[in-house]
Amino acid sequence: MNTIKLGDIAPNFTAQSSEGEINFHDWLGSNWGILFSHPADYTPVCTTELGTAAKYKGEFDKRDVKVVALSVDGIRSHNGWIKDINETQNTTVNFPIIADEDKKVATLYDMIHPNSDDKMTVRSVFIIGPDKKVKLMIIYPASTGRNFDELLRVIDSLQLTAYHKVATPANWNNGDDCVIIPSVANEEIPVLFPKGYTEVKPYLRMTPQPNLK
Ligand code: BEZ
Repeated sequence: MNTIKLGDIAPNFTAQSSEGEINFHDWLGSNWGILFSHPADYTPVCTTELGTAAKYKGEFDKRDVKVVALSVDGIRSHNGWIKDINETQNTTVNFPIIADEDKKVATLYDMIHPNSDDKMTVRSVFIIGPDKKVKLMIIYPASTGRNFDELLRVIDSLQLTAYHKVATPANWNNGDDCVIIPSVANEEIPVLFPKGYTEVKPYLRMTPQPNLK
């Protein structure tokens, strides 16, 4: 078992996919990336998830995020399933699906949780930064399909907080006020946050989202 922690370099691998062989780090290049696993091909919730991910391509592209899915089935199965996804979800799958019949990648990323199911992967999401480090992990059970609006929301937060000394509060959405991180002294605020700030408590200082005009 391989336990990945936030801030670790995302383990590299080479694998076959529905779009040919992928060396994960080379494929990511200097982009952000999402690697997400699916319990199995030809399953209903996964079908809706992959269709939704395809429809969100424009949103992922805007954020320089490359998307790759994984399921522990083979290429032939993936290719047949992709036809079904395109047909039933009224879209075109526009990202690779890794074929992981030997569970090499699933094991590397600890995507099989035997007390949940000893054969299928859970629904893992790994968001990886341009530095190849793991920025966020979310794990859902097979029975709960993912919310792709939530994935865009967390990408917006990750990309904002990577470049500005802010954090995003509960239920934050792009455009909402942000929290100034505790390591910023009040004296630094006029330069860092020229739009101003509100001190609710000395440890809770809010400022308009800094990367918006
Ligand atoms: C699904 O993707 O629909 C699914 C897979 C495994 C268990 C339950 C649902």
